[in-house]
Amino acid sequence: MRGLVVLVTLACFATAQHQALIDYLERRLLAIEDRISLWHEQTTRYASELRELKQQMVSQLENLDKEKEILRTNLDGVGTRVDRVERELDYLETQNGAQPCVDVDDKLIEQQVTLVQEKQKAKYSKLSDCSDMISSVKAMKILKRVGGPKGMWTKDTSRVSAKVYIFNGTDEDTIHEFATVQDFTRSLGMSLSKTLRLPSSWRGTGHVVYNNHAYYINQADDIMVVKYDMKNSSVTDSAVFPVQDHVPVYGLTPETLMDLAVDEEGLWAIYATRQNERHISLAKMDANSLDIEQMWDTNCPRENAEAAFVICGTLYVVYNTKQPGRSRVQCVYDVNGMVTNEEAPLIYFPKRYGAHSSLKYNPQEQLLYAWDDGYQILYKLVMKKKLEI
Ligand SMILES: *[C@@H]1O[C@H](CO)[C@@H](O)[C@H](O)[C@H]1NC(C)=O
Ligand SMILES: *[C@@H]1O[C@H](CO)[C@@H](O)[C@H](O)[C@H]1NC(C)=O
Repeated sequence: MRGLVVLVTLACFATAQHQALIDYLERRLLAIEDRISLWHEQTTRYASELRELKQQMVSQLENLDKEKEILRTNLDGVGTRVDRVERELDYLETQNGAQPCVDVDDKLIEQQVTLVQEKQKAKYSKLSDCSDMISSVKAMKILKRVGGPKGMWTKDTSRVSAKVYIFNGTDEDTIHEFATVQDFTRSLGMSLSKTLRLPSSWRGTGHVVYNNHAYYINQADDIMVVKYDMKNSSVTDSAVFPVQDHVPVYGLTPETLMDLAVDEEGLWAIYATRQNERHISLAKMDANSLDIEQMWDTNCPRENAEAAFVICGTLYVVYNTKQPGRSRVQCVYDVNGMVTNEEAPLIYFPKRYGAHSSLKYNPQEQLLYAWDDGYQILYKLVMKKKLEI
């Protein structure tokens, strides 16, 4: 009897245990089902939310498209202004570059005046430590279009001065002076300029502004170089260029009988005479007295030449090329004999008109100021040492 009780108890115990397991499993299954339905709900909700979001995005994108369109029209409207500001910034940037040549020159002038005077009598290569030559043209900026097809524009090439001078035309007597490049680009035509009236007309585009003076070419029977003080508006000096039988120096720019240039070493005259008719001649001038210091007959032909400039005692002559819209430095003449034509860099200039009517180098900024069909253009130059060729 006692054994049966034990057995029943055991059986009950087993059944109870079994039942508990089933209950447990059922609870778990229910819980899992619950969770599955919850997931299902959530997924559906997510899906619909996603759909809504997508719709919102589509309509927002449409709005964005519309706004973009409006923005583009606005941008087109201010495009010219942005362009101008950019040009000015780019231009100002170029003004802050290092100027090793000029620094050396300044030191020379400060510390070694007597030495320089002695060296002037000696071989020309000893005159200055300036030995830069062009490596390439890094950038070009069209600043403005003002004036006629021919003319010249420049800053004072002897020092960092903000003023800009416009010599419009090839036979005029009125210089337009702008206080800054910004004024020049901002000005409607010449409206923001101050006018300086010269006592006589200039001929061609062969003038320079150097150390607060305008140097210009005036022609009667002889070629006259006139030095005009811009501070007190008076002619300081004038001198007949002591060479006879002049012919226009560049084949393609007949108005320019003689060209003047400034480089790190001072004032130069670029000219041609009937005696050496096929080639360009070069002379170093004393900017104070207008005396000729030395003269060279170069091997650079006049034919097809449109303009020239001097950098560190090297003459670069720019010629018309067979490719339309392009000119090229095709002949160099180094008074120090360090750069030959074979070593001359390949330098191209885009152009719109038949020829550049002037190309003026500014040693303070290492920029070329060009006048091409009434467009005032800046070319930014990259230099290298002559010896590094
Ligand atoms: C520039 O010069 C040209 C020709 O010499 C002349 O026709 C034109 O009126 C001048 N323009 C200005 C703005 O002085
Ligand atoms: C102008 O100034 C220069 C020096 O800067 C002087 O030599 C000249 O006599 C002055 N001319 C006049 C007319 O005042």
